[in-house]
Amino acid sequence: ATGLLGDALGRPLRDLRISVTDRCNFRCSYCMPKEVFDKDYQYLPHSALLSFEEITRVARLFAAHGVQKIRLTGGEPLLRKNLEILVEQLAALRTPDGRPLDITLTTNGSLLKKKAAQLKAAGLQRVTVSLDGLDDAVFRAMNDVDFPVADVLEGIAAARAVGLGPIKVNMVVKRGTNDDQILPMARHFKGTGVVLRFIEYMDVGATNGWRMDEVLPSADVVQRIARELPLVPLEPSAPGETAERWGYADGSGEIGVISSVTQAFCGDCNRARLSTEGQLYLCLFATEGHDLRHLIRGGASDDALSSAIAAVWQQRSDRYSELRATLPPDAAGSGQRRVEMSYIGG
Ligand code: GTP
Ligand code: 5AD
Ligand code: SF4
Ligand code: SF4
Repeated sequence: ATGLLGDALGRPLRDLRISVTDRCNFRCSYCMPKEVFDKDYQYLPHSALLSFEEITRVARLFAAHGVQKIRLTGGEPLLRKNLEILVEQLAALRTPDGRPLDITLTTNGSLLKKKAAQLKAAGLQRVTVSLDGLDDAVFRAMNDVDFPVADVLEGIAAARAVGLGPIKVNMVVKRGTNDDQILPMARHFKGTGVVLRFIEYMDVGATNGWRMDEVLPSADVVQRIARELPLVPLEPSAPGETAERWGYADGSGEIGVISSVTQAFCGDCNRARLSTEGQLYLCLFATEGHDLRHLIRGGASDDALSSAIAAVWQQRSDRYSELRATLPPDAAGSGQRRVEMSYIGG
């Protein structure tokens, strides 16, 4: 009964997020703080990474189990050499009823100008670009490698020009750091067709020094925008979606808010994550994965690998963001062994 796989809480498997590298050319403090990810940091050796063939094989088995969407992440996925070849292989996969999968990518945009056309030609459908502010000084401080806003905007423009769309822009909001960028960002993207989404700063990983007082609740984000640019609530476009949608009352487009901290969305979370080295994670906040690479490189048949994936999913009961709300305030954000987002993939 492929396609009907449910986890222990009855949630289907629909979305596979694949991390293709644990490296990044940015050092966003909420993700890869410089103090930890310095020149001595041990990244995975090339031999540990799943090859494109290995990734595509696993993805094909996931598709047979009902996965309809594949998102490539990292680290910065465009740092993985020849990524367009992987995109081409993934674009050839089909769901059990013969439809192509939705193939997409989350990127910091720094290499997008150079790669947009190749990615489009390889079969990538759309991209999501991270951008934490429009003010150059604020953005350079957020990425912590002095990368200019203008280059990311050029990347977004290049992606639009080649028809990679609809494009989404993700802004992680840290109170006191870039919350003054909420309105400039909203004004900038309103009416452009780009969907801007505001993400609550999350306690992922164990190195970002997360504190609740740096989280700006999405309700405040919506309120701040609506005061100047009236908003109306929109229906979800798919079950299990991360973002709550809001439309501009004048019909000039929409925004989204991703509120993992103040309004958990685990209830119908249909996302599995495949780490750079082939560990299957059932939650962004998991402390342990399930080793698929060992099976792949140990000569497991498709049937064996497929059954292993099904068994892992069927036992899944993860719902960290919902549980976080019940933790004492100091316990959230202090998970010692929690995996880093750059490794597991956002
Ligand atoms: P769409 O297909 O465009 O809806 O993308 P998406 O929202 O699934 O992916 P994207 O990479 O743009 O994720 C946006 C933000 O939501 C990132 O900060 C992710 O880490 C976060 N996010 C994605 N999935 C989950 C999840 O399952 N749990 C939590 N807590 N956060 C998630
Ligand atoms: N909290 C919220 N979002 C984060 N991202 C990375 N780390 C965090 C965090 N601690 C975002 C990135 C990117 C997406 C994949 O995840 O900015 O947009
Ligand atoms: Fe790199 Fe994205 Fe993490 Fe920033 S959030 S350090 S761009 S992987
Ligand atoms: Fe899914 Fe875990 Fe995120 Fe909840 S916290 S939405 S279970 S990935």
